[in-house]
Amino acid sequence: MLKEVSPNASSLVMSMRSIGYSFNNAIADIIDNSITAEADLIKIQCIWNGEEPTVEIEDNGKGMDHDELIEAMRPGTQSPLSTRSDDDLGRFGLGLKTASFSQCKKLIVKTFQGNLCNQATWDLDVVQIENKWVLDVEDSLVINDIEKKGTIIRWEKIDTLSKKNKEDAEDNFNSMVSNLSKHIGITFHRFINGDKRRINFIVNGLKCEAFDPFFTDKSTPLPIELIKNQIISCEIRGFTLPSKNKCTDKEWDYYAGEEGYLANQGFYLYRNGRLISSPTWFGLEKKTPKRKLCRVRIDIDNQSDLLWQLDVKKSSAVPPPLVKRRLKKILRSLVSPAERNFNDKARRLTNREINPIWQRTTKDNGITYQINRNHPLVKKFSEELGPKLVLDFEKVFFLIDNGLPSEGIYADFSDDKNINEIDKSEIEYLIKLSLDMIDLLAKNENIDRDRAKITLSTTEPFKTNWEYIEEKI
Ligand SMILES: Nc1ncnc2c1ncn2[C@@H]1O[C@H](COP(=O)(O)OP(=O)(O)OP(=O)(O)O)[C@@H](O)[C@H]1O
Ligand SMILES: [Mg+2]
Repeated sequence: MLKEVSPNASSLVMSMRSIGYSFNNAIADIIDNSITAEADLIKIQCIWNGEEPTVEIEDNGKGMDHDELIEAMRPGTQSPLSTRSDDDLGRFGLGLKTASFSQCKKLIVKTFQGNLCNQATWDLDVVQIENKWVLDVEDSLVINDIEKKGTIIRWEKIDTLSKKNKEDAEDNFNSMVSNLSKHIGITFHRFINGDKRRINFIVNGLKCEAFDPFFTDKSTPLPIELIKNQIISCEIRGFTLPSKNKCTDKEWDYYAGEEGYLANQGFYLYRNGRLISSPTWFGLEKKTPKRKLCRVRIDIDNQSDLLWQLDVKKSSAVPPPLVKRRLKKILRSLVSPAERNFNDKARRLTNREINPIWQRTTKDNGITYQINRNHPLVKKFSEELGPKLVLDFEKVFFLIDNGLPSEGIYADFSDDKNINEIDKSEIEYLIKLSLDMIDLLAKNENIDRDRAKITLSTTEPFKTNWEYIEEKI
């Protein structure tokens, strides 16, 4: 016997509020609808309103007629299994409702088409009291402006913001709005800069700027990889971002993004040009400093959402096994240019020099760095000390060698901090040291002064500062 057991409206609607949208993800899901409705201008207005904040998302898309509006307000209006047009950003028939309810208890949709304006409102307080899905629908209104089209989504009774401390709450709201602008700038960057279709986004009167995580003007693109069969279509393109010395400080800081290069390496998944997930290696690699300049764009369409396990919020997806296997195969070729840059830089910092002050030795249990006892200046100093002081000197060396703050150096190096740069005021001293070194090298190694100079120019810290030293010696 089949028995109909309908969901309990008042409890279900409250549970729907907890799908886990962030404010930014919720707005992005509403924006998706505007893009699907062919809008090219989307304005978002967030108003604090003395503790009664409101949010409005207005588009100039094709709008809806009376019946379409009522259908749009229905939770689960379209099955996730139904076929969608190629550029549709929707999938579940839920976003408008779940995204809105996650942030507010009153959703008002006002939409214009022809010379008619239609409006419908979900008020969750009413749904709870009535324990029924009762939608407040207004009669169609004739307006004079036949040209007007588009839709306004309005959130009232926003109860997800803490209002405990009045001033803090308003500050939080304002920083949320500026964060939103950045979120739109990256999530829809390919629409803002016209890669896909050009769309203007305005948040509280200010235009959103596109943030292109691949820094395509200066990065090095890798060849495109395609994965295509009857159900999956996926395009993969790796980019190696320029290293710090190849861009301005401003560019370097800007393209680091909010979380920095280390966190922002990985795959960026785009569905129909819209960014879905924050960068991740999908568990195939770890985020390490070596690969921090590697960012990989993956483009998918809306035909294989189920296989990608796209979530209702459109904020996460998992590659199907076939894609994962392929990604694993090509991963080396994607990350190795970035790794090569990193290794080159590390190699430059370790010594390949003729008279290095630090000596790198590989041992069974790892690598050691020690002060080079044969460095001409060290050797000369040791010889002048005499047998007793030499032993004390060796104790000091032992402490220096074994107290090397390697983890701190590694962290600074990975953060692209300048390590042990000679200060301008120390250049004079370095020049004097260069002269002493040249004397010593000429004497000890029995070479002429020109060769001694060449030797010195390949050795740190003289090497990095050679342009200043050379003209003075
Ligand atoms: N701004 C808009 N302009 C025109 N139609 C809209 C707009 N917003 C929503 N709709 C209509 O309402 C329907 C339901 O939207 P909703 O976001 O709930 O589901 P969806 O977009 O179909 O799927 P998903 O749950 O994946 O977002 C849409 O399919 C669309 O027809
Ligand atoms: Mg939608």
